[in-house]
Amino acid sequence: MPQIRVLTGITPSGTPHLGNYVGAIRPAIAASRAPGVESFYFLADYHALVKVQEPERVQRSTLEIAAAWLACGLEPDHVRFYRQSDIPEATELTWLLTCVAGKGLLNRAHAYKAAVDRNREGGEDDDAGITAGLFMYPVLMAADILLFNAHKVPVGRDQVQHIEMARDFAQRFNHLYGDHFTLPEAAIEEQVATLPGLDGRKMSKSYDNTIPLFAPPAQLKKLIFSIVTDSRAPGEPKDTEGSALFQLYQAFASAEETQAMRAAYADGIGWGDAKQELFERVDAEVAPLREKYEALVAHPQRIEQQLRDGAQALRTQYATPFLRELRAAVGLRELGERVASTAPVKQAQAALPAFKQYREADGRFRFKLVDGERVLLQSRAFDSPKEAGARIGVLRRDGFAGADADVALGEGADHAAVRAALDALRAAEDAKA
Ligand code: TRP
Repeated sequence: MPQIRVLTGITPSGTPHLGNYVGAIRPAIAASRAPGVESFYFLADYHALVKVQEPERVQRSTLEIAAAWLACGLEPDHVRFYRQSDIPEATELTWLLTCVAGKGLLNRAHAYKAAVDRNREGGEDDDAGITAGLFMYPVLMAADILLFNAHKVPVGRDQVQHIEMARDFAQRFNHLYGDHFTLPEAAIEEQVATLPGLDGRKMSKSYDNTIPLFAPPAQLKKLIFSIVTDSRAPGEPKDTEGSALFQLYQAFASAEETQAMRAAYADGIGWGDAKQELFERVDAEVAPLREKYEALVAHPQRIEQQLRDGAQALRTQYATPFLRELRAAVGLRELGERVASTAPVKQAQAALPAFKQYREADGRFRFKLVDGERVLLQSRAFDSPKEAGARIGVLRRDGFAGADADVALGEGADHAAVRAALDALRAAEDAKA
């Protein structure tokens, strides 16, 4: 059975908290046990440097996060588990990709744009305080993904744009130098809960409202008792809707337990009692993991060795030979060597998909997207060629959303084929620009 390669990075910039556990660690470890997948999980410590410039914190966080994943059941024998900075090919690939990455595309990255917007609001120079590291972040991330030709990249919504960029860089590279990279896809975890923090907002380091995953029981209890609730007294019915306490409980409880808690809310359970139940539920799940975590953190050398072994195996098996191939492809070659070009030449041009506009006997205007003989998309009739043209422009720019009143899939065509065709058109366009 062909394996799907799933890859994701975790930035070691803080201490793992319950939100990371419920939103990332627990589902990722469960997913890594599914048949037919090959999982790559790594500590994105180069990415951490973009945010954290305290060396001790980078080191400590890398240890804590590695230990947390192992304690929660990651099996390094079945999962590729490594540290980004142990794979120098990732940085080398970053440069190769930098040289095909559109600067304009990077200008539009959400994180960079948000930083610029903040500067503008504050009346500062656009780029005040912004490092080139923040700007280049998506290229490094693309290198992480493309280095191992990952198919699927599970990420939160905020990272989807980065995956789109990785596809874009891969496409440009492939277009120039031949088919070297798989185009990755984001796998968005829709049903994974984002956990509320102590103040009811999303649990996040940046809000300072987190509950550390491995807080000792006394601290865990204290933090849980500090969760913000409303002022309803014991005996008064309480809303589960919008209750951070309830959402936290639900993330750790079975369906039956959740149902029972829902009934208890309706019956007016006191907040103190509800908090006690939450504490007991969380502690029951976390206590055995905490024990493993503490044993792991006490022996950093063992984790160090595990990470290095993971990286070394990947370098030997993939990264080193792949970079050799890529260097040759771009022309970083031994001077005496003669290499058959792998770059797609002229015929690729002719094979490009195309939008065809036409007028039918009814005098109205239609278009289709064709790839050779195949019709991928067929439009409805428009009254003017201008309208049809504008619709094509939108498709070229924003892609095909699926449910669309103006265009339908051609016979036998599917979404993936349409997307590949639109991607190819865009890449060809960019290459011309
Ligand atoms: N940028 C990701 C985050 O902050 C971490 C990351 C780095 C990553 N490289 C990656 C995720 C590659 C997926 C694939 O969450």
